[in-house]
This record gives sequence, C-alpha cells and structure tokens, in this order.
Amino acid sequence: MIEVRDLVKKYGSHKAVDGVTFSVARGELFGLLGPNGAGKTTTIGVLSTLLHADGGQVRIGGHDVAAGAKEVRRLIGVVPQEIALYTDLTARDNLMFWGRLHGLGGAALGKRVEELLVMADLVDAARRKVETYSGGMQRRLNLVAGLIHEPEVLFLDEPTVGIDAQARSRILELIAQLGRQGLTVIYTTHYLEEAEQLCDRIGVIDRGRLVALGDKESLISQIGDADLIRLSLPADRHEAFRAAGAGWPGCTGIGERRGKLEVRTPDGGRLLPVIQEWLRANDLPLEQLEIERPNLETLYLTLTGRGLREDAP
Ligand SMILES: Nc1ncnc2c1ncn2[C@@H]1O[C@H](COP(=O)(O)OP(=O)(O)OP(=O)(O)O)[C@@H](O)[C@H]1O
Ligand SMILES: [Mg+2]
Repeated sequence: MIEVRDLVKKYGSHKAVDGVTFSVARGELFGLLGPNGAGKTTTIGVLSTLLHADGGQVRIGGHDVAAGAKEVRRLIGVVPQEIALYTDLTARDNLMFWGRLHGLGGAALGKRVEELLVMADLVDAARRKVETYSGGMQRRLNLVAGLIHEPEVLFLDEPTVGIDAQARSRILELIAQLGRQGLTVIYTTHYLEEAEQLCDRIGVIDRGRLVALGDKESLISQIGDADLIRLSLPADRHEAFRAAGAGWPGCTGIGERRGKLEVRTPDGGRLLPVIQEWLRANDLPLEQLEIERPNLETLYLTLTGRGLREDAP
C-alpha cells in the first residue's frame, strides 16, 4: 500500500530525512519510532503530499505522491501532531467543516459525522465548544477528523502527546480497532511502549535514517546475544573481575556504566552461577545480580547511543 524508496528531504543543507526505505502492506499498522528531531513529521509530510521530496520515490496505493498527489489525497487521512481544530466550534461543526473541505455534504456527511462522534465517544459532548474539552477528548476528535472521507490509509503523528495514561490508552484502543477494520496506519511516536503494543512492524528512525526495521521479535534478534548481567563491586576489584571474566565461557564482553560492571553474554542464566562462584571465592558479598534481557530499549540504545525522550511513560 505504501512504498518509500531512498527518500531524502532537506531543509537548506540539513538532511532531515536521509535515504529512508520501507514499505507498508495493506491493513498493516506500522510504527515510526524515534526521538525528537528524528525526521518523523518530515517523513509524514512527504507521504501526505504536503512536502516535496528532494530525492527518492514514494508511492501510495500505486500512485506517486508527487505526480499523483490528487489521487493520493483521496486515499489518505492525516492526523497532525499539532491539534488542528477550531476550538470555538463544537465537535459536530468541526467534523462538518472537515467534511465539506473534502467535498462531502448532505445526508451522507451528516451520517458520517454521527458515526465518527460515536467512534470518538463524543456524542454527549458534541454540542459543546471544543475549548471546553479535555486534552484526551480533543485528541480523539483530532483523530476522527482525519477519517471523515473514509481514507484507506491513516497517518497519525504522535497522537498521544500531552495527555494522561488513561486518555492515551483510549486512543490506542481506538487505533487498534481501526487496524482490525483493515485500515493501513503509519503511527509515529517517541514512546517505545506504544509502538511495541500497537504496531505490527516498527521502523526506528534517528537523525533522518532508518536504523532498524522489522517486527518486534526480529528487531530484538538483531541484538541477539546481548543479555546483560550487572553488578557493583568495589572499584579496586574491577581489574581482577575483568581478568577472571575473560576466561569464562559465554562471556562476550565486560563493560562499565554508572559505576556498575556490565557483563555481556548470550545466556545470562548459565553465566550467573559462574559469577556467584567467583564472588564467593574472593570473599565478596553475594549481592543481587541483575540480568537484563534484550528488549527494544536496549536495541534503541545500541543503535543510537541515546535514550528516548525522558518523559516516556
Ligand atoms: N520547517 C523546517 N525548517 C528547518 N528545519 C526543520 C523544519 N522542520 C523540521 N526541521 C528539522 O528537521 C529535523 C527533523 O524534524 P522533524 O520535525 O521531522 O522531526 P520529528 O521526528 O517529527 O521530531 P518530534 O518528535 O520533535 O516531532 C530536525 O532536525 C528539525 O529541526
Ligand atoms: Mg514530529
């Protein structure tokens, strides 16, 4: 349904998107995960025909986004990162307005608006001005506004930013429901947990480049053998620990972070007793050893060398 090949988008000399390639199948929920400034909104901008690419190709439903922009716009709905609603109008009037922009009218538009109000659970609030709504209600209305013309593809750009956990999970449930109904979705987020929970496949984008692509399992297998065992030892014992560790089977590396030793191994469960034995033999306390299994967070750190935004839940 969506094919992106070698996409480049520059602002001046700065490459905000730098050679991105991925495709999304019909009915798939695809997550574009990355930190601030990674290039998510810029990518969505090109895919939704709002920005012109400086290189590469994008096809949606078989149409080129540049040459076939008109056809593409009929196929897609866009839910922008910044809420795009008239706050002095009611929910119903906002949806009527968006519908007319798309050339809808009459009884068909009225029916569609009522359907979307039900979907967003805003029937009771539909006569009130949007300025009286909570953040979560505004986000839900912003979302269904992108569906007014029954698009086959929906672009959602960080639709849960700035709302509480409960409002967020309602939005995620709504999107999952749309996915089950066969909508093709690209969902951008800097919340790892959201991409993990919601998306069939995930592309990790950083500094304009796609640094990983796949379903959750295949992403995690990219860091494959990276169980981490953490322990704190007195600083004067680090040297001896490293020397002993070099000879342990299954120990693929020993590093240090925030004063703790980190032992890398394909199988933490097997190396753990060996470490405990060494601690005992050296009269060191058997402190609690942490094992960290590979997860998307460690993948993300491995790939980009930095974490996601600190406000991630
Ligand atoms: N209109 C613009 N003019 C110049 N530079 C821009 C413009 N829009 C974005 N950029 C730059 O391009 C890069 C990508 O920005 P973009 O908004 O696509 O990132 P993002 O992944 O959506 O980030 P966020 O999570 O903050 O929304 C950033 O370095 C940003 O500063
Ligand atoms: Mg953005």
